[in-house]
Amino acid sequence: MKNTDKINVLILGSGGREHAIAWKISQSEILEKLFVAPGNYGTSTIATNIDIDLIDYKKIKNTIIENKIHLLVIGPELPLVNGLHDQLSNDNDIKDLIIIGPKKEGALLEGSKTFAKKFMKNYKIPTAKYKSFTINEASEAKNYLSTLNPPYVIKADGLAAGKGVFICKNIHEAQNAINSIFFESKFGESGKKIVIEEFLSGIELSVFILTDGHSYKILPVAKDYKRIGNGDTGLNTGGMGAVSPVTFANNFFLKKVEKKIIYPTLEGLKKENIEYKGFIFFGLISVDGDPFVIEYNARLGDPETQVIMPRINSDLLKLLYSMKSKSEFKQQTIDISKLRASTIILSSGGYPEKYEKGYIINGIDLINDSIVFHAGSKITKDGQIVTNGGRVLAITSLNDKHEEAIKIGYKNVKKIKFKDCYYRQDIGKDLIK
Ligand code: AMP
Ligand code: GLY
Repeated sequence: MKNTDKINVLILGSGGREHAIAWKISQSEILEKLFVAPGNYGTSTIATNIDIDLIDYKKIKNTIIENKIHLLVIGPELPLVNGLHDQLSNDNDIKDLIIIGPKKEGALLEGSKTFAKKFMKNYKIPTAKYKSFTINEASEAKNYLSTLNPPYVIKADGLAAGKGVFICKNIHEAQNAINSIFFESKFGESGKKIVIEEFLSGIELSVFILTDGHSYKILPVAKDYKRIGNGDTGLNTGGMGAVSPVTFANNFFLKKVEKKIIYPTLEGLKKENIEYKGFIFFGLISVDGDPFVIEYNARLGDPETQVIMPRINSDLLKLLYSMKSKSEFKQQTIDISKLRASTIILSSGGYPEKYEKGYIINGIDLINDSIVFHAGSKITKDGQIVTNGGRVLAITSLNDKHEEAIKIGYKNVKKIKFKDCYYRQDIGKDLIK
């Protein structure tokens, strides 16, 4: 392929995150054709959706071959943790494919909390003190609680869609959490090990990098709002809104993040011989101005991506494509907008627990000064857009003032109507001075 040629891209996933990535890539100068699998209604308006189950390797491979895909972006964690990248790169039929997203070993940073904690300990990356226990060590785990002060933080080792973390006020609750992870088998394989860690008190934020394992580019910093209720109350969700940038994450703080967290993480990966090409999402907590890692993710966040993508001025696809060569990626720069972004999630009433689907969504066409990213929505045979998931839409707004970006968002949220629509009223408001 010549430098001037355009490329075909496939994005895997179906959330608001993937719509936002597709939206950004669709504006690239070097894009020929864009495909999303399985995608959602939003991605179908800017790309070709292909209905694929992400565990169907044969279909993924055939789609790549048939559509002459040059670059693949793996959006969600599950195919990464399951080793999709490894499978594809061991396949001689598609050996030139550029894959954004780590192999199985790198994805363990997200796929196993025990692995991630051990890694951080080995490479002196600041994180909460911890111990891990297997299912045969339940009584040792309970004894360990008595060496800590409340609240107690107990985590299932593997992927649990954000539901595997228990913050317990007292020993009794903590013992119940241990029992429920180990013995009620709610988490399957993910709950055969646990991590118990010290509680850190501070303010959370998310830092994202794109790396080829050698150099890295820092993407816009974001803060997401994980709980379902206003004022960070109620159950944990995938995220009910986000803002970017995060006012307290100034250059001084970000320099500390680079020195104490990003740099040693990449050095650690190199020392462990783990190749890593993709995004790393550092879930951080600032404790009195010092960053600690709460968790690693091997992908972009949802809904953080819905505020990150609109703040990248430069061509993201060019940056991703430059990863075909170590020196080319290193030379690239990323231009980040000074604008402030907010995104507010409109969810189906009942989420993150039981909710109904199939309600007609009205009002999207009335919005002209926000971007509507779709997640759980679909179009029916008679052309109606209906709800089709827990998190339905993300309304992203930009302005040179943080407060205005939030105001515009809420003005437009009110234009959208569907039955049992729920959203948090306080996204980003804690950061207004
Ligand atoms: P995780 O899935 O590991 O990101 O944890 C989910 C949420 O639990 C985080 O976003 C934090 O709000 C909270 N959390 C996890 N670990 C800790 C900790 N050690 N101290 C305080 N809060 C924590
Ligand atoms: N918003 C948090 C996540 O994507 O895991």
